[in-house]
Amino acid sequence: MSVITSIEDLRLLAKKRVPRMFYDYADAGSWTEGTYRANEADFQKILLRQRVAVNLADRSTRTRMLGQDVAMPVAIAPTGLTGMQHADGEILAARAAKAFGIPFTLSTVSICSLEDVAEGTDGHPFWFQLYVMRDRAFVERLIDRAKAVNCSALVLTLDLQISGQRHKDLKNGLSAPPKLTLLNLLNMAGKPRWCMGMLGTRRHTFRNIVGHAQGVDNLASLAEWTARQFDPTLSWDDVAWIRKRWSGKLVLKGIQDVEDARLACATGADALIVSNHGGRQLDGAPSSITALSPIVEAVGDKIEVHMDGGIRSGQDVLKAVALGAKGTYIGRSMLYGLGAMGEAGVAKALEIIHKELDLTMAFCGHTDINSVDRGILLPTARH
Ligand code: FNR
Repeated sequence: MSVITSIEDLRLLAKKRVPRMFYDYADAGSWTEGTYRANEADFQKILLRQRVAVNLADRSTRTRMLGQDVAMPVAIAPTGLTGMQHADGEILAARAAKAFGIPFTLSTVSICSLEDVAEGTDGHPFWFQLYVMRDRAFVERLIDRAKAVNCSALVLTLDLQISGQRHKDLKNGLSAPPKLTLLNLLNMAGKPRWCMGMLGTRRHTFRNIVGHAQGVDNLASLAEWTARQFDPTLSWDDVAWIRKRWSGKLVLKGIQDVEDARLACATGADALIVSNHGGRQLDGAPSSITALSPIVEAVGDKIEVHMDGGIRSGQDVLKAVALGAKGTYIGRSMLYGLGAMGEAGVAKALEIIHKELDLTMAFCGHTDINSVDRGILLPTARH
């Protein structure tokens, strides 16, 4: 592999190294994948204003998300099955985030558990993403476990009571661990690094769930449990219930609409994430960067507004910040780094994004990320 200079380089390497079922799981959206593509494409339409003869010494991308100091306004998004892109993937990504000085968010449906990540990062605080399952006693225990390992924020995902159909996952028969069919075995045989990693870890399935949810102690019972656990009745009352149980920072993820953003403010949450789940849920929804501005306008003075979806470069981060996001999250950019080169790959992804952010900010005539606003965008892009 030649020198890696972009997230696209990491994606191509991950495609070579990760078994097809898991690579496809990451690199896909729902139905026609229109929203998935729009998330990236709409960033490209926003044009920047170049300024010259500005003193560009002493630049800083440091800022705060949820009151926490961050090296740049980027956090790692929660992604399910991350430990299937690379052995012990969640631990490795959390370590890379810790070293870089940005937050890591662990998914409910991760391979490594809350306790695994806490142990693997020497107790460094991380954020935990919660899905509300039908089994509310299990949800209560998850919240208690997140408190016990010192999680500093709870990210409550509101856009997955039901699941957007992802054709590739259905066709590939996605499962963790993968079923040992002839096709899967042949595919895995071509991914020796991945196989060696998996042979070296005992973490092969959903460790936040197995052994913690009642009646789930093996793979057969796990498959049955997860199929019926996502709760279609989830409502704002559940958000109020969780707000009561979790006194730390609370973030509501999956807001797309101004009306919902207003309702989110009324819950007493600390932040909301403008997100369409990386184009994996409602295909036909607007890109996140398009949805961002009206929400910032409506509630940006009442609640911290974050966004995710389609960020593949530091330029995208800068554009989101210019349009009012106080923080962004990366899902696939992290997963591609992880699949390509494990912890070093996630570190590489963060370095790439940081460098692009820093230089683009400078070209636009700014030396401090906290002074960036719509003024760096050409008027047509200011919405
Ligand atoms: C996700 N996402 C997600 N979100 C969440 O709240 N819980 C989860 O378990 C998952 N799982 C998941 C798996 C994979 C493979 C992807 C790609 C995404 C959504 C994620 O947090 C985030 O919203 C998107 O990934 C952002 O879009 P980009 O950065 O991937 O374009």
